[in-house]
Amino acid sequence: MEKPDVLIVAASGAPQMAELERHFTLHRMDLAEDPDALLTDVGPRIRAVVTGNSAGFSEDLLARLPNLELVSSQGVGTDGLCVAACHDRGVLVANTPDVLNDDVADMAMMLLLATVRRLVAGDRWVREGRWQREGNMPLSRCVRGKTLGIAGLGRIGKTIARRAEVFGIEVAYYGRREQSNVDYPWYADLETLAGEVDFLMIVLPGGEATRHLVGPDVLRALGPDGYLVNIGRGSVVDEAALVRALQEGEIAGAGLDVFADEPNAPEALFAMDNVVLQPHNGSATVETRNAMAQRVVDNVKAHFAGRPLLSPV
Ligand code: 8YV
Repeated sequence: MEKPDVLIVAASGAPQMAELERHFTLHRMDLAEDPDALLTDVGPRIRAVVTGNSAGFSEDLLARLPNLELVSSQGVGTDGLCVAACHDRGVLVANTPDVLNDDVADMAMMLLLATVRRLVAGDRWVREGRWQREGNMPLSRCVRGKTLGIAGLGRIGKTIARRAEVFGIEVAYYGRREQSNVDYPWYADLETLAGEVDFLMIVLPGGEATRHLVGPDVLRALGPDGYLVNIGRGSVVDEAALVRALQEGEIAGAGLDVFADEPNAPEALFAMDNVVLQPHNGSATVETRNAMAQRVVDNVKAHFAGRPLLSPV
């Protein structure tokens, strides 16, 4: 039987690519010198696309693939994919949720602790010889007994909440709806939540609905002793407002894994000792990226075997 044609917009891991190659005819747009010519040549034959949320999947590309059945994307986020347009055309979309919850939650707690306990500043204090010259560095704050506001209490948010509880941190959350099976206090308004908590953790997805939800008002409500951590999407935070709030001491510090215009982060943050930065590393472990890549492949295989997708969007 002829192998279905699959367009690779962004490659998965090496073992997963080899597995795809055994079952499908792959067309490597990610390696093509002339992607446009490749699409003209094979576009009408393509039945599935493999991509990632960062590489994305656009309406322009969708229009070049008249017989597309499935977009299988690496990442839980779908803000880089034209999901609505796919669904309108009856094209299925799959993502890779759950397998990354623990690593992203670990990153969230690392950034919270690193920022509040000034881990990176302490590291620099030793390396730069300031310990010898100036003695002990100024005291940091403690996380125990404080309150963490989680904006976006989905699967990752709940995994973070369980970790926070172990550290003696109280949890409250913001979301569009109150969740019936959750005991943490719910806030319908993000600014109100920010005013009530010590730490604000952004776990919201990207896209127009959440764009700049964290702006000057939310930051002012968080206050001069408050810390912001963002492991969701950079677009949720108004970065200019965040830089201003940090410069003016309107909030105490920030831990950021995601940015509005990756791989660029606002340069004004680089010199700030009360800020800890990461290059979108939440899910970036060998084990989790392997599991995500495998899910991408398993979704494609399920579709062509006539089984339901493992993780449909
Ligand atoms: C990755 C992510 O950066 O899952 C997501 O939505 O943001 C991250 O896990 C990426 O999408 C993995 O390719």
